[in-house]
Amino acid sequence: IVYYGPVINPVSLTSYRACRCLLAVGASGSIDWIVEDVKDSMVQEIMAVHGYIDVDVVSLRDGEFIMPGFIDTHTHASQVPNAGSGQQYELLEWLENITFPMESKFSDLDFAERTYASVVRRVIDSGTTTCCYFATIHLEGTQILAEIVNRCGQRAFVGKCCMDRNAHQVEDAESSVSSTKALISYIKDLPSSPHLAEPLVQPILTPRFAITCTSPLLASLGEVAAGDPNLRIQTHLSENPSEVAFTMSLFPESSSYTEVYDSVGLLRENTILAHAIYLDDEEIALVAKRNAGISHCPTSNFNLNSGVAPIGKYLDQGIKVGLGTDVSGGYSLSILNAIQNASIASKVIAMQHRGDPAAPPAQFSNKQFSVASLLYLATLGGAAVCNLETSVGSFSVGKSFDALIVSVRNDAGNPTIWSGSAPRTPEGMLEQFFFCGDDRNISSVYVQGKLIGGTAFTR
Ligand code: GUN
Ligand code: FE
Repeated sequence: IVYYGPVINPVSLTSYRACRCLLAVGASGSIDWIVEDVKDSMVQEIMAVHGYIDVDVVSLRDGEFIMPGFIDTHTHASQVPNAGSGQQYELLEWLENITFPMESKFSDLDFAERTYASVVRRVIDSGTTTCCYFATIHLEGTQILAEIVNRCGQRAFVGKCCMDRNAHQVEDAESSVSSTKALISYIKDLPSSPHLAEPLVQPILTPRFAITCTSPLLASLGEVAAGDPNLRIQTHLSENPSEVAFTMSLFPESSSYTEVYDSVGLLRENTILAHAIYLDDEEIALVAKRNAGISHCPTSNFNLNSGVAPIGKYLDQGIKVGLGTDVSGGYSLSILNAIQNASIASKVIAMQHRGDPAAPPAQFSNKQFSVASLLYLATLGGAAVCNLETSVGSFSVGKSFDALIVSVRNDAGNPTIWSGSAPRTPEGMLEQFFFCGDDRNISSVYVQGKLIGGTAFTR
């Protein structure tokens, strides 16, 4: 299939390309070729040059554009039924009163099946083409989530929470490790296309956070990680002052919260660290040295009164950063909402530093994010955090076509974003979609070239 119309293509934290393109997707779902700055009169000739004779061209209508799918680097599928509850609490009370009780319900496999089916559908229709999911402590429930994600065709990492203390339901360390290994085997055996470099759905090692894991459990998980360098790892780090204090009391021998993970080999280039709000300079240097990625979850950070993560500072240190919805610490499944709150979080920091902007060469510290930076964090940045930057996050030859067709047309059924008076430049459409759009504007969601969601998807 060849798509023809405005394409938004992220390049870096400071730039993206926006122009009319012809973009060809081959049978494997990867991009065969792209030609930029195309005019109507050139289409047939370009197709012929590429040997594309009698191939369907999908021409976008005025008010539509193509962009890479969103990458959600941190969310909890099991907490979606709680979204919008518990905003009066901070993290530890919220876990106790809202979150652990809900997660306990996932021992009921019917409940797990029904809940996860609707969650995955909503996440896909929100434009998330790659998602890092936490499930719960339950092996079978987590297998159900992985199976549903795989059946729906979403790209994802699915993890079972490892917890052997300080939660409502816990396992002993040995069972936590053996059930994690069982999940890894189960996910590796799910049906998958043989031509893909990596299967769409992959397991991810998920020590929930230091508070719910004893040292022996963390050490054993470190051994599992050491045995599989490609296995991604996800956890929470330094989200809330009381959490940091409790963690340090549980690990008095550690010099920092970050070091708790590093000391057992859980901090490496494919580790995804959610939140990371209260890191000191040594911790920042350690995250940078290990090339671990940070999942910025601004909606959750505001909602649970956690804090404002200094993301600009991390970017200036060269740390990989993507966005996370962190439902139900965050109340929205949509990365659009994370984009909006990432923008506001950056403005809060910028306002606090009006008189003293960071000195050059600092580029992002204490500054508000541009649309280019927000786009990057939601796509390529997330891909880098997931170590998927060679296959997704932007459009280039050989990359997977993980994409959205976005419509800001004021057709019936669409929220009226475009009034008809402003010119519809691709840049203007993108900014309006980011700040005023929602899933009604996402007409098609593609993963590996296949239509899997959006308003145009027939279920
Ligand atoms: N820290 C440990 N568990 C959780 C969780 O479920 N959500 C958030 N936001 N932080 C956590
Ligand atoms: Fe979380």
